[in-house]
Amino acid sequence: MSQTEFNPVSTSDISLHVNGFAYSLTIAHHWTLLRVLREQLDLTAAKVGCDRGECGTCTVLLEGKPIYACQILAVQVGERPVVTVEGLGEDDKLDRIQQAFLDNDGAQCGYCTPGFLLSAKALLEANPRPTELEIREALSGNLCRCNAYGRILQSVRDSAGPAPRSGPVARTGK
Ligand code: FES
Ligand code: FES
Repeated sequence: MSQTEFNPVSTSDISLHVNGFAYSLTIAHHWTLLRVLREQLDLTAAKVGCDRGECGTCTVLLEGKPIYACQILAVQVGERPVVTVEGLGEDDKLDRIQQAFLDNDGAQCGYCTPGFLLSAKALLEANPRPTELEIREALSGNLCRCNAYGRILQSVRDSAGPAPRSGPVARTGK
């Protein structure tokens, strides 16, 4: 048997629902969602960083929750909707979290930015008025090698509503 006749890679035909569009694809079983997004759908906002579930540059939303796209096989996604940064905002209008990053200079090299945007988006959808601690916890799975954390945090604060008070409200007068 010649090498070209021997194909040890198993493939499947799948449907993926990404940013509101349905795609029919033939993929190898071992391909991650990240690889399929970038190499088959040409959606390259989700970045390859560590490729082992540590840095968050590959973050996408799966059913509205942030996940590492390098840590899930595309064949595991099924009918569940996926959102990437390409799916945020509208044609002529940025999502408010994107606008806040722009206004606050929240990206330095920008490599981590798509992941932070989606983690922040998921937080604000679930909790429009997060506390400082909730913001930091929500972003804790994303690393920024440029150490732009101060501006990233400010961007998320700016796109959120005012945080609830953490203690009793002080009374003045009678
Ligand atoms: S590339 Fe997925 S977590 Fe780092
Ligand atoms: S802005 Fe460069 S890695 Fe975060």
